[in-house]
Amino acid sequence: MPIIAPSMLSANFLNLEKDIEMVNNSEADWFHLDVMDGRFVPNITFGMPIIAAMKKKAKKPFDVHLMILEPERYFEDFAKAGADILSVHYEVSPHLHRNLQVIKSLGMKAGVAINPATPVQFLEDVIGDIDLVCMMSVNPGFGGQKFIKQTIHKIRTLKQMITDSGASTLIEIDGGVTTDNAPGLIMEGADVLVAGNTVFSSTDQADTIKRLKYLQK
Ligand code: DX5
Ligand code: ZN
Repeated sequence: MPIIAPSMLSANFLNLEKDIEMVNNSEADWFHLDVMDGRFVPNITFGMPIIAAMKKKAKKPFDVHLMILEPERYFEDFAKAGADILSVHYEVSPHLHRNLQVIKSLGMKAGVAINPATPVQFLEDVIGDIDLVCMMSVNPGFGGQKFIKQTIHKIRTLKQMITDSGASTLIEIDGGVTTDNAPGLIMEGADVLVAGNTVFSSTDQADTIKRLKYLQK
């Protein structure tokens, strides 16, 4: 059964508490929180104060996806705000190994996110140090985009790399996940499905989460 992480980017920001309760009471496993800086990606979302406020109501782990330049400047702040898993983008981390060590030393799980055009092979030498690979299946920046099909083969390659190295890294798919494509992604080796638009635009959000988890269309 996959881990389901609803992306709060598509939640109702006028009533976050209601959507947090929905996730709390659903079969979702994590909260996926997308932090954007208007520099690495075109969009700007939210940061530490909002995450800290959400933490007071949320009863499931916070999977924080940083789409920001120089993420290392804020590791400690995100730990304090309540991040349980903290992912940095490969594309902004010239010192990826160091970043992973620092994230873990602050008591969080360490994740690496990669853009659709970034080969998974670039992670080979640090795969044993990565708790989660967030594989982007859209170009980061916005919710509700269409899944980029060329990213599917990367799941299989990454899975093989993880198996060969004996690591216990989880593979997360982020962007354009639907109840239609979810079963195929799991078959290829995905462990975690992020879903924003699919969950929050549906009329019965908890039921959509359930269908993603049990892979029913
Ligand atoms: C995109 C974000 C995603 C996004 C997914 O930059 O990283 O987490 O919220 O949204 P959907 O599921 O709507 O594609
Ligand atoms: Zn994300």
